[in-house]
Parts: sequence; C-alpha cells; structure tokens
Amino acid sequence: MVDSISQDVLIIGSGLAGLRAAISSAATDRKLDIAVVSKVQVMRSHSVSAEGGTAAVLFEEEGDNQESHIYDTIKGSDFLADQDVAERLVQNIPYEIYQLDHWGMPWSRRTDGRIAQRNFGGYSFPRATYAQDKVGFYGMQTLYDTSLKFDNIRFYNEWFCTSILTDDEGSFRGVTAIEMKTGNFFKLLAPAGIMCTGGAGRLYSFSTYAYSATPDGLDMAYRAGMALKDMEFVQFHPTGILPSGILITEGARGEGGYLINSTGQRFMKKYAPEKLELASRDVVSRAMIQEIREGRGFKHESGVDCLKLDLTHLGAENIKARLGGIREIGIKFSGIDVINEPIDVRPVCHYMMGGIHTNIEGATEMKGLWAAGEAACNSVHGANRLGANSTAECLVWGRITGELAARYVASNKPSSISDLPQQVLEEEKRIYDGIFRGSGEMNPYQLRKDVTDTMDAKVHVFRHEEMLQDGLKKLVELKKMSWKHVDDKAKEYNTNFTNVMEIDSILRIAEIVLKGALVRRESRGAHARTDYPTRDDVNFLKHTLAYYGAQSPKLCWYPVSITRYAPTERKY
Ligand code: FUM
Repeated sequence: MVDSISQDVLIIGSGLAGLRAAISSAATDRKLDIAVVSKVQVMRSHSVSAEGGTAAVLFEEEGDNQESHIYDTIKGSDFLADQDVAERLVQNIPYEIYQLDHWGMPWSRRTDGRIAQRNFGGYSFPRATYAQDKVGFYGMQTLYDTSLKFDNIRFYNEWFCTSILTDDEGSFRGVTAIEMKTGNFFKLLAPAGIMCTGGAGRLYSFSTYAYSATPDGLDMAYRAGMALKDMEFVQFHPTGILPSGILITEGARGEGGYLINSTGQRFMKKYAPEKLELASRDVVSRAMIQEIREGRGFKHESGVDCLKLDLTHLGAENIKARLGGIREIGIKFSGIDVINEPIDVRPVCHYMMGGIHTNIEGATEMKGLWAAGEAACNSVHGANRLGANSTAECLVWGRITGELAARYVASNKPSSISDLPQQVLEEEKRIYDGIFRGSGEMNPYQLRKDVTDTMDAKVHVFRHEEMLQDGLKKLVELKKMSWKHVDDKAKEYNTNFTNVMEIDSILRIAEIVLKGALVRRESRGAHARTDYPTRDDVNFLKHTLAYYGAQSPKLCWYPVSITRYAPTERKY
C-alpha cells in the first residue's frame, strides 16, 4: 500500500519560479495548503547560480520604455516569440523588481540610491537589474525567507518526483515521488500543480548548469501526454569558463569587458558593428565558433579551443565591486585573476528556450496543471532568449501561475480517480522493475557521458543534416544498449538510483532536441543550420511541438502569435 499525502497546490521545483509561485498561491488563499517538492535542498536549486540580472524597465524618465523592452525581446527571439507573451513579461516585471526589493532583496544601488541597472546583450537600454553578480543567490534567499513567513507553505526537500497522476477526466491529480531520505514511494495528491522543474542543460557535457539540471520534469509532462515545444532551440552562452563550463556573466561584457582572438583583435566589430560583444547571445556565440574555425582561437591547456575575455581595463576596484563573484570563479576554477589577465572562455550550453507547452497564463494542456520558469515554454523567448529575461520570466509567471492555481482549487472540487491504484502500480513497475531491479551491461554513467558528449558534438552552435543524423543514430544505438540498472540496492539516499532515473529522462528528451533540429530546415536564433543558412518565414515561422510516442516523439507545428511587429532581418 503506497502512502499518500494530500495538499491543495503542488509545486514541483524549488527555484525562483517555484518559490515565487508558492508565495503567490499561499498569499492568494491562506487557507490552502501549498507544497513545494524538490529533488534538492531549496538553496541548492540551480536558480541560485544565476549571475547577471533581471531585465525590467524602471526608469522611463531617464529614457527607457516598455515598448523598447518588448521589441528587443521579440527581435532577440528572431521573431519566434509570441508577441503578446513578450508584452506580458515586460508589463509585469517592474512590479516584481519592487516586490523583491520590499521583501529584502539587496539590489545593487547607484550613487543616488536608486536601484542599479547595467547593460546586457541585445538591449537598447541598460535594464539588467543586478545584485552584484549574484542575482540568483540573492533572489532565492529573499524568496525562500519570504516563503518561510507563510504557515501554509510546506517543503518536501529531496523528494524525487517520478510521474504525473491524473483523474478520470485526464486532469491533474498529483504525482508519484520517492522520499530520498528513506527511499519510500509516495503519492503526493493535489487538485492543482505547477511544474517549475527548470531547464535541462545537462543534456550537454559542457554546460553552465548544476548537475541536477536534468530533464526529469520535462519528461514527466511529456510522458503524461503534454507537448514539449521548441526544444531544438538551445542557448549557448558565449562565456563559459574553461575547463568546467561555469558561467562568466554577460554582466562582465555589460560592464565593458571585451572578447579577443589570437591576433589580439576585438573580432565582434566584424560580426556586430553596433553592439559588438553586447549583440544577442546567439550572434556572439556563432562569431566565436567562426573565429575558432578560421584558426584565430587560442588553445586552453586542456586542449579545448577558446577565445579570451579581457576585463583588465575595468580596474581592480570596479571588478571587486560589481563582478566579485566571477573574479572568485576565475581564481578558484581557472587559476586566473581577471583583474590581471584575460580569461579563457568558449560558448557553453546555458538555457533551453523550449519546454512544456503553455499558453500565455502558463496553463499546460492538462487541466489543473501549470508550468513556469525555464521548464515552461510560453514562447516568450522564441528562438533566442535575451540575458536577464529568464529570472524575469520566473518571477512573472511564478506569480501568475501561483495565483491561478490557487483560484482554480477554490472553485474546483477534486474529482474522482477510480484507476489511481492502477496508475501507481504501473509506475512502481516502471521504476522498480524497470530500473531498481533491472539488469544491464553498460555503466549508466558512461552512457550519460556518451549521450551528453554526442549532444556537444552533434547539436551545438552550428548544425547540419549529416551531423544531426549522426547524432540521432548514435542516440538510438545508446538507447538500445542494455544499461538500465543500479549497482547500489540501498533504500536510503540511493543517488545511484536517482541518477539512473535522470539518465532515463535524458535519453528521451535528447531525442526531441535532435529531431526538432532536423525538421527545422532553416536558421533562426540559436538554431543555425549551415545547410539552411537563412531564416525561412514562409515555411518555419511556427513553433515545434513534440508529443510522446512509444518509439520516438511525434512532431507537429503550432502558430506563432504576432500582434505588433512584422518579422524583419536582425542586425546588431
Ligand atoms: O550572463 C549571465 O549573467 C546570464 C544571465 C541570464 O542567462 O539571464
């Protein structure tokens, strides 16, 4: 008999979106029980590592305006953003900045005492609101502290969710989950849920993401019949430090840092004459790989090709005051003090524009279930996200979905689930017979490395048919191998088991990225096909949807919402 725990709103994931959603639900109705379930401790959520800022128009009197933020976002998206969604983001984010401020967020300040903002790539105005270079850490701390003021929010830390449960009508009714401390299997029931499980950047080996950023949340939604949208659009941030891939914030370029090649040239002048290093990320990353391909890169001691980011001209005081975090990262993880020397960097997997398909309100295709933050694809970022719009998205749709889920619970009685025992039984079979008691020859960790290395090699900044077909072939081979097993049979804190569960999801979701990249025969935003080098609005101004198929995903298309701006060629 599987134990069950009931609450009103179940939030899966404890990053910025999850915490903002929890506070919003809890404040909407104090009588509701809100649960936040997370596979990590709250302050180990990947949001903690966000660095550079949160984009918002705060100072119209100084020349900024919302129209410009909306347009920059849509242009940055290479016109694949749903324009009404971009508008919603821009209109709602200033409120969130001040709300965080009131909750204690230590935003950096200008000398006149007002909240400070810095330049970021692709924007027409310095609107990345920052807290030194640790916006994620301070944002998380502020939200976590605020959430603890609500007696109606309860945390289930280190619980690994495995599948979504539905009622007789197919509406959301909860999840199955393993309490990692005991290894016990539970039903967590609720009439409403919000998926806030973040991005899946650990589909790649060289990645800015925490090792926990695997696609298990996306996979739960996918297996439950919801579409994943635009998964081929993977963002490669220009400045991952070598050899680890840890992020060097775009704020470093926002503060005036620049990129140089092995001839000492500031090469971005050639690729983006106006914006230089502050063009959108897809443009800068492509330029870097191009420089490397044409022989103007450096060799890092690990053998990897790279370029250099030079901050030495910014001055020690400035760097210590505004970029202290990345200085520390440079010293600890690369042995270089950016005050004295340029640092080796190369494009690194940083963000998934795709995710669980939602509408403008964050509602998924399943009644009673919303999604917010990077796990969601409400299409605000289209084919390429602008930096600092991600933490913004987490806050805006965390609040929206939290409130909607709470209101939904108030007006919808939990419906019956006559086949719940069957659903739970099948899930137990899938995970315990399929994995825990499974057998396999290949080491699952080797398999994970092979898959993520394949993603690095075959579906990176530049793609073409042959590479993608090769990647898919390799993935299908790996999928067929006998690997699904655990060596550690312990019940308590069995990370071997949860790792293998994560790998299982990596295989399914990697295939969607590859297949999406294959069918999109154009170049748009972060998806650059050398065999189809131009954007093709006639055939591909549309979103990609992937639905679950037992053998492989089923792909179809979905329209883009164009409300304000006709697509034009992007220039930076
Ligand atoms: O470069 C950065 O600080 C990253 C910011 C972002 O991805 O929004």
